[in-house]
Amino acid sequence: MSTHKIAVIAGDGIGKEVVPAAIECLERIAELHPVSLEFNHFGWGSHYYAEHGRMMPRDGLEQLAEHEAIFLGAVGSPSVPDAESLWGLLIPIRREFQQYINLRPVKTLDGVKSPLASKEPIDILIVRENNEGEYSEVGGRAYRGLPHETAVQETIFTRLGVARAAHYAASLAASRKGRLTSATKSNGIIHTMPFWDEVVEETTRLYPDVTLTSELVDALAAHLVLKPWTFDVIVASNLLGDILSDLGSSVTGSIGVAPSANLNPEGDFPSLFEPVHGSAPDIAGKGLANPVGQMWSGAMMLRHLGHPEAAEHLQLAFESALREGHGTRDVGGPSSTSEFTAAVVAAIDVID
Ligand code: NAI
Ligand code: MG
Repeated sequence: MSTHKIAVIAGDGIGKEVVPAAIECLERIAELHPVSLEFNHFGWGSHYYAEHGRMMPRDGLEQLAEHEAIFLGAVGSPSVPDAESLWGLLIPIRREFQQYINLRPVKTLDGVKSPLASKEPIDILIVRENNEGEYSEVGGRAYRGLPHETAVQETIFTRLGVARAAHYAASLAASRKGRLTSATKSNGIIHTMPFWDEVVEETTRLYPDVTLTSELVDALAAHLVLKPWTFDVIVASNLLGDILSDLGSSVTGSIGVAPSANLNPEGDFPSLFEPVHGSAPDIAGKGLANPVGQMWSGAMMLRHLGHPEAAEHLQLAFESALREGHGTRDVGGPSSTSEFTAAVVAAIDVID
């Protein structure tokens, strides 16, 4: 049995609470399955920034590259500008390691109350392009402080970048209900978005079992609130995918349960697994954080590492703890982070 080396960056705020909670569950799962995990902890984030003026050391990426996967909590603190924390750690990891797919499941869980009146089950996979698009470094500011001060930021879509996201999404759809929805805005954004549409359409043609619908993102956002159960797989650019997945996770209940995987599908570099939520400074240190998003990200990591049964076991355990009413306050439950975690560990043993 080979040991998977995993780099752990708990990061800031509730990252320091939900990461240990998820690791406790992963370690229990590893005891019960033919899985061996080695966790190496890196104390990077806003505290590191306060001391060193950067979010991670200069050779941070080289240190991470020695691992098979990265398990991240969240980075961001009121004491560090958000652009620094994001561009100093998460974005370099996503780009240098060619994690061009950001996979974000949006799924109803028993015990997590949706704000929607309908009880129709929701099960969507959002595939967000993760390396280019609107989050680009190309642009600048001119005439600072003057009335005609100007800011320009360019969106970058490449054929390679759009096609590989579309391929990933279409093959996922082919393995599910065969429905792919592409988020666009080609009526207003007349250069990059028609290009996105063209490449997504060309790519999807290679998947005869997949039906593609292109939907303007404003209508798609409304649709996601009104009839979320009609979606199967959604593919979207970096910015649109970010927004739609936060919306999706709110529609199913709490942002605290939403997981994500930043994938380098070829396995040339480590992939990164993290909850969708941030460091939540408003509740940090109070034992209120919901660790489900982190645990579910851990299940996605197990699946990526080739252990679907262990992943399923962990998933069943936190779903059962939620169903039995052990959830944290954000999902209407009575438990603290550690009480909920204890309930999940107990459920792991029962399910076994
Ligand atoms: P946030 O996701 O941290 O919090 C939004 C709201 O949801 C807050 O009211 C928070 O209390 C609640 N919430 C989030 N996660 C929860 C959980 N697990 N359990 C219970 N309640 C939870 O987003 P916000 O406030 O916009 O950002 C806070 C900081 O996090 C910022 O510095 C931001 O840049 C950073 N951030 C980092 C991300 C990352 O590391 N990938 C992603 C998003 C934000
Ligand atoms: Mg986001």
